[in-house]
Amino acid sequence: MADSDRSRLSVALIDVTENHTADFLALARDFEKLLARKGYGRAEMIRDEAQPLRFYAVRHWTDAASAQACHADPEVQKLTARLFQIARVTHVVNGVRRLDSMRLLLDSQRSSVEADRRAGFDRRVKDVGHHAGERRTRRDRRLGPRRLRDRPGEIDLIGAARRARENADAAFSQFKVGAALEAADGTVFTGCNIENASYGLTICAERVAIYKALSEGHRAFTRIAIVADTAMPTPPCGACRQVLWEFGGNLEIQLANLTEERGKHRLKDLLPHPFDARLL
Ligand code: THU
Repeated sequence: MADSDRSRLSVALIDVTENHTADFLALARDFEKLLARKGYGRAEMIRDEAQPLRFYAVRHWTDAASAQACHADPEVQKLTARLFQIARVTHVVNGVRRLDSMRLLLDSQRSSVEADRRAGFDRRVKDVGHHAGERRTRRDRRLGPRRLRDRPGEIDLIGAARRARENADAAFSQFKVGAALEAADGTVFTGCNIENASYGLTICAERVAIYKALSEGHRAFTRIAIVADTAMPTPPCGACRQVLWEFGGNLEIQLANLTEERGKHRLKDLLPHPFDARLL
């Protein structure tokens, strides 16, 4: 495909909430009609054959200006707001972002990345009660990553975040955080906070996880688990919300401490009026 054509394509991964498929399909039809009526482009909705609640929304924009006009259109924004209430949307290809040449370059590199590349996910059988300095038992060793697609339901994202937290370097705040981010293909990337004597250089667990994933060529994500050792849940900080939104879209956010889950959110609810490339 010529570059000029590729830059007019957008693809989003849409995971519809159970029992909302009919609403979603009606919304998709309205969106398709709106796009055609206003000459913005053509929309296509492809259902995943293996996962009935998963769809791929493909948009072929008339040109870059139409795409931008579409994003700014209040009628479109209304439909999008309804969509966010019943589905999780993850942008895979966004053909109209500025700095596109960079992104397209990354896209083409990504296609050459080994299909099952994965990093950073250790899946030890048990982790609770594991203290620094304690030796790991054989049972506790790395078992290696598994893909959700291959073994549905097996990935314990919160467990992965708890284990990642053990590596946190929180020498100044003593506040250790772990995160585990699931990519669309089920690969899990973990992160922990790493502090610095020059305090501002500290990086949060969530950003470590997403930057690891991005640097491995992943661009589509579904959920992130965040763990701290507190009774109150630890939601991502403002900077992390911004970065997660930019690269992960409306992620599901699972909060937990060392023993319990402490709530589930959608990123859209934690960052209701986001600033992003659509506004540039
Ligand atoms: N921190 C995270 O890693 N993630 C969050 O969601 C909140 C804060 C880290 C940054 C810093 O190292 C420590 O927690 C205290 O702010």
